[in-house]
Order: sequence, then C-alpha cells, then structure tokens
Amino acid sequence: MYRTKTCGELRLADINQTVTLAGWVQRSRKLGGMTFVDLRDRYGITQLTFNQEVNAALCEQANKLGREFVIQVTGTVSERAAKNTHLPTGEIEIIVSELNILHTAATPPFTIEEESDGGDDIRMQYRYLDLRRPNVRKNLELRHKMAFEVRRYLDEQGFLEVETPILIKSTPEGARDFVVPSRMNPGQFYALPQSPQTLKQLLMVSGFDRYFQIAKCFRDEDLRADRQPEFTQVDCEMSFVEQEDILQLFEGLMKHLFKYIKGIDMTEPFPRMLWSDAMKYYGSDKPDIRFGMRFVELKDLTEGRNFGVFDSALYVAGICAEGCASYTRKQLDGLTDFVKRPQIGAKGLVYVRCEADGSFKSSVDKFYSQDDLKSWATRFGAQPGDLLLILCGEPAKTRKALGELRLEMGNRLGLRDKNTFAPLWVIDFPMFEWDDETSRFYAMHHPFTSPKQEDLDLLETDPGQVRANAYDMVINGVELGGGSIRIHDSELQDRMFRILGFTEEQAHEQFGFLMDAFKYGAPPHGGLAFGLDRMVSMFAGLDSIRDCIAFPKNNSGRDMMLDAPSEIADAQLDELNLAVEIKKK
Ligand code: AMO
Repeated sequence: MYRTKTCGELRLADINQTVTLAGWVQRSRKLGGMTFVDLRDRYGITQLTFNQEVNAALCEQANKLGREFVIQVTGTVSERAAKNTHLPTGEIEIIVSELNILHTAATPPFTIEEESDGGDDIRMQYRYLDLRRPNVRKNLELRHKMAFEVRRYLDEQGFLEVETPILIKSTPEGARDFVVPSRMNPGQFYALPQSPQTLKQLLMVSGFDRYFQIAKCFRDEDLRADRQPEFTQVDCEMSFVEQEDILQLFEGLMKHLFKYIKGIDMTEPFPRMLWSDAMKYYGSDKPDIRFGMRFVELKDLTEGRNFGVFDSALYVAGICAEGCASYTRKQLDGLTDFVKRPQIGAKGLVYVRCEADGSFKSSVDKFYSQDDLKSWATRFGAQPGDLLLILCGEPAKTRKALGELRLEMGNRLGLRDKNTFAPLWVIDFPMFEWDDETSRFYAMHHPFTSPKQEDLDLLETDPGQVRANAYDMVINGVELGGGSIRIHDSELQDRMFRILGFTEEQAHEQFGFLMDAFKYGAPPHGGLAFGLDRMVSMFAGLDSIRDCIAFPKNNSGRDMMLDAPSEIADAQLDELNLAVEIKKK
C-alpha cells in the first residue's frame, strides 16, 4: 500500500496513530535542528517533521528534498505545538520515521501556490503543474459536481443520456466548422458538431422522448473570455412539449444546481423578459438585471433647441447613475473615452449633473434650459445627487454602446456582485437577423426554430417582424443556455429554407436526412442547451471559462501544452490523399 491516509484527513483525534502518506513536497523549511515539509495531495496538506537530534540521517535526507518531489513517508501523528488555524490538518503533524523518494522533480517553472507567479502562457504550457494548484483543481471538482447533479436531475426527470457522433456533417449554429479529412473517402471531410442539434431532433423522431447529453461541441469562431473553440453543452431535447414545459423543466434544473451546489434556494419563478424589451431597456439580449439603470429615451424632449447632434440623431437615450453627480471632470472624461473606444463606438457622451439644490449642470447647457433638463430628470425619476449619462445616434448601435456604458457604471458602482445571482429568461427572439453585408436574412437561432403561430402570416411579407419560439436563460448578463421549439412540419420547414435563401437542392444537400426523417412521423419537439463551461465558471465566480477547463486553448485557439495545431507528416498527408498549399491572403 502506498498510503494508509490522505494528506487532507488527519485530525487531533488521530494522534498516536502510525500512518503512511504519499504526495508532493509543497515546500520545506529548516528551523534549527528541525526540518518541516508540507506534503500535498489532492485532498490537502499535512506537515511532516524531521528532528536532527532524533534521527540525523533521516533529517539529512529530508533536507535534500526539493519542491514537487514525490515522496512516501511513514510516521506517527502528533499534536502540533504551533497550530495552523488556516489548514484543516493544522493541529497535527507527522513525526516521520521512514522517508522514501518515489520521484525527484525538476524545479517547476512557476510556484505551485494558490497565487502563482506564472504568466498565462507559461501556466498553460505546463497546465499539468498549474492543475496542482488547489484553486484550479477546485474548479474542476466543482465541474464534476455540477455535471453529476445535472445527470441526477435529468435522470429523475426521465431523460436518457445518448451519445452522438463527433465525426458528422455540418450543423447550422452559425459559426465555422472544424473539419476532418477522410482517408477512406479521398477529398471528403467530416465536420465536427457545432452542437448535436440535428441528431437530437432525429432522436425525437426515433421516439426517445427525453434526451440529454453532456456533449463536446466545436466552433471555429473568434475567441473571448466566455468562448472556447471546443466547449461542452448540457444538450437536451423533449417531445410533445410546448415552450412553457421546457422553461419550467430547465428552470427546475437551474434551481436544482443552485440548491445542491451553492446551497441557494431559489423559490421564486425566474423573471421573463421579451427580447424586444431587453434591447429597448438594456441594449443587450442578455441583460444583467442584478441592477436597474434601465434606458430612458429622450428624443422627443430634446428636439427643437438647435442642438444639431441630438436633432440629427434618430435615437437619444441615457441612464441614470444614482449618487454620481459628484463625478469630477476627470471621471466624466474617463467615461467619454470609454464610450468612444472603437469597440463601443459612440461619438461622445452628454452628462447632466442633478445638483443637491435642485439645479442642473450639463455638458449641453448652451442649448438646454434648466426647465428642459428638469423635464429629462423627471423622466428618469432622477433625484438630486444623480448623474444622467446620455448617448445618441443610430438606434441599434447606440443601444449597444449605452448597454456597455451601463455595465461599466454597474462595475464602478459595485452593483455586479459575483455572489448575487439574477436569473432571467429572455423570450420571443426574432426569427431572422438581417445581414447588411450579404443582404439576406439569417436564422437568429437556427433554421429549425419554429416561428410564433400568430406571426406566420408575416413570414414572406415582413420576415424581420416574425418572432420565434426561442428563449435564452441569462444569469448576471451571461447567456448560459438557449433553445427553441422546433418546426416539425415539412411544409413550414420548406418555407423557412426558402426565406433563408436556400434552394431546394441546397436544403436537401445539407439537411435532407432530417427532412426525410420527418416524413416518417416527427413529434412536436423542442429543447435547449446550456453551456457547461459557462455555468461552472459562473458558479465558481471566474472571469474566464478557461479556468474551469482542464486543458483549454488560448485566444489563438492553440493548445500551448500539446503545441497543437501543428503540421502533419508527409506520409500522413499522402494517406489522406491531400497536399498542403497555404494560400496567401
Ligand atoms: P447555442 O448556440 O445558443 O444553442 O449554444 C448553447 C449554449 O452553449 C454555450 N456556448 C459556448 N460556450 C463556450 N464556448 C463557445 N464557443 C460557446 N458557444 C455556445 C452558451 C450557449 O448558450 N443547438 C442549440 C441549442 C438548442 O436549440 O437546443 C445551440 O447550440 O452557453
């Protein structure tokens, strides 16, 4: 037996026991004739003690231990004189009688402590060492627990976990596919699933009724803190359900996770917000409703005072930052710089300070009287001491910029506490999204999403107005999941493909297998998928989903540890009947 106990379990009650432990040397210190070694394994840290006077040879051996050596020790559990209240094992130590070095270790490239001195790239290159750090490991423990609770809840609800293939044909989630060449079919490629969307719909045709899968998905898209090229979905689909059934069941899943993982009882129903309201009041389809600061529109109140910037803008709106009238010139300039950043894209920022004496001081005093400014403040419901921040321009872009400013103010005012959770269903998404570049409509969700019955008449005449039976679950401004009720009627699906600009051949080429399957009897069905990485990172309060993925990729899509992607040998290319020619852009 390599060990009789782990490094996390010994307590005062175990005193005088002889135990064998194994693990890594976290660090060692020499104090007079004593040598203390912190021994670490997955379960914790236990202090080992060597005494020069009692066993000089053993102590000499201990003095030679380097960081991260793998050792095995046998000794007696004893009460510590100087107790460490920060460690669960801090009341005891092991008086070592035998030491066995199982493996020496090179000096690690960064310190393996809670707070490491290693930069991102170096930690990723040596991710197996990074994963020895307890805080990183804890994220993966949480991930395990969450996946386990997901399975428990869905199993209790009668869902079957079914695996679907990874080598498939393109799925329509709107990103680029990763592709894999086929040796046996020269010149042909598989696509990796962007999601198991079409396959889970086929399982409904097969009568599986309730499917789920903790599924790997692959999307070749630009990466951000909440996006990885390969990520994991809790993917679900149900038959004979309406939107309400799905919302109820998966709200239940989220409440289950909050209860069993975080000990939070969410008894109230999750609020629901129309997509159109989310855009109107928050400038985002994933509003963070931990705080208010809703948009207030002012266009009608600003007209006719010869302020060209507002007069020529289609949209004028702002937010009210409570208690911020005292912002200095410098702070206001900082906010102006913030909204002018290229990624935010506003041209400027107008402010109105609501002074304590009931007067107003603004950056547009030249154009607007005190009465004008008062009428704005009244519409905001602003109090003396508040600060109005106003943007104008093209509606969609300005809403987006104002949304960013709102989040920035939320951050500055400490209104986005990581331990407060504000869930929300965003419902009634538009069916289509217009793309100026290609001058055509795209499915906002995917082409199998069903339009609202009452909007069917608008499909050909005014597609932009058609709403979908599509919904997202948003928590704290993060889209954790989304789904829809699907079309299960071939005729309607054909109409949809036509509107999306597919010819009959193209539609058949891409999705013929699904359309054919539907001919054999498709039940009404719908579903959704949660991003597991995003859920874990929210529960752990992380800034990036990378920190809850064992071996993540960096922002250029590289695995720094494996050094992938990489070139492949000519022999491998030959087998695949491929030649590589890198085209110049
Ligand atoms: P959707 O594309 O909205 O829907 O994806 C569902 C959820 O997956 C997560 N997600 C990601 N997480 C990390 N990195 C990424 N690159 C990434 N892309 C998406 C998000 C998102 O909410 N088939 C549909 C679901 C359905 O209709 O049932 C789908 O994939 O949390």
